[in-house]
Amino acid sequence: MICLGIEGTAHTVGIGIVDSTGKVLSDASDMYRPTKGGIHPREAANHHAEFVTPLMDKAVKDAGLSYADIDLVAFSQGPGLGPCLRTVATAARALSIALSIPLMGVNHCVAHVEIGRLGNDSKDPVMLYASGGNTQVIAYSKGRYRVFGETMDIGVGNMLDKFGIMAGLGFYAGPRIEELAKKGTRLVDLPYSVKGMDVAFSGILTAAKHQLESDSSLEDMCFSLQETVFAMLTEVTERALAQAEKNEVVLAGGVARNRRLSDMVSSMAKERGATVYEPPFKYLVDNGVMIAWNGLLAYGSGQRMELQNTKVNQRYRTDLVDITWR
Ligand code: ATP
Ligand code: FE2
Repeated sequence: MICLGIEGTAHTVGIGIVDSTGKVLSDASDMYRPTKGGIHPREAANHHAEFVTPLMDKAVKDAGLSYADIDLVAFSQGPGLGPCLRTVATAARALSIALSIPLMGVNHCVAHVEIGRLGNDSKDPVMLYASGGNTQVIAYSKGRYRVFGETMDIGVGNMLDKFGIMAGLGFYAGPRIEELAKKGTRLVDLPYSVKGMDVAFSGILTAAKHQLESDSSLEDMCFSLQETVFAMLTEVTERALAQAEKNEVVLAGGVARNRRLSDMVSSMAKERGATVYEPPFKYLVDNGVMIAWNGLLAYGSGQRMELQNTKVNQRYRTDLVDITWR
């Protein structure tokens, strides 16, 4: 079975084509970059509307296929920005009707997590999903991905991006912050905000802004931000490993591209005798491949979705999804 997956929850519209063995046949995407400030939902949706069809054509061609070879259409049903979600869902419905093939909406967060498990030997990991809009520590139990800990306000990536906008680093700022942090030498005191298993980032953002406006260098602030928030994420991940009695970690989401985060989680895991698995870099940020793969998992395990149930859900939670394929 061959699935075409469409991603478009936020800044990136992407098409991935995958077969039921998990082989990636093509991967095409384009990212909306705001000229000023953060993502404007309507502008991002217009961007996706413009690019979704050409990208689809490109992905089908790159895979050496024709549209008649596609057996299933998957799309990200949420969570995400309303206008972006609706644009992508409309494209998915149109394709499904035009080709007379089934349609499967998938949860964007679960898709990030599942692509992290594809192609490695992890069996029952704790997953640290750190991206722009989401930050969750997840583990599987009794048919659901349970959220052990999560952000109580903004996602860690959004926090970095907001800091970046303020510091004039452009959108999105994670990679620039990682580079600048390497030149930082002084650890500036920032509020370390772990409450039970949950984390919060907006207080840290405010404190970091104040520090930057007073006497701290940008390099020191990037370094201090990373050290503080990645230590928080590592602490909660470690506690989840201990409580859930697991010994594997899978990293997911765009912020997991950061080598400092990966190093911190890896050294924590090493001390506990746990193994860390990281998906290829290109599948950490938003992409159509993870949506196609999740669509295949759901469909392959017997899930079906009627057209009238394909409404998008901006607040679609990870732990609402029935994980019928495990
Ligand atoms: P969500 O998955 O919550 O809907 P998203 O779709 O915006 O959010 P991704 O595409 O998975 O998230 O990741 C984008 C985020 O990853 C941005 O916030 C970006 O700054 C961050 N990011 C990318 N590379 C790095 C890096 N090297 N270091 C830190 N953050 C990074
Ligand atoms: Fe994402």
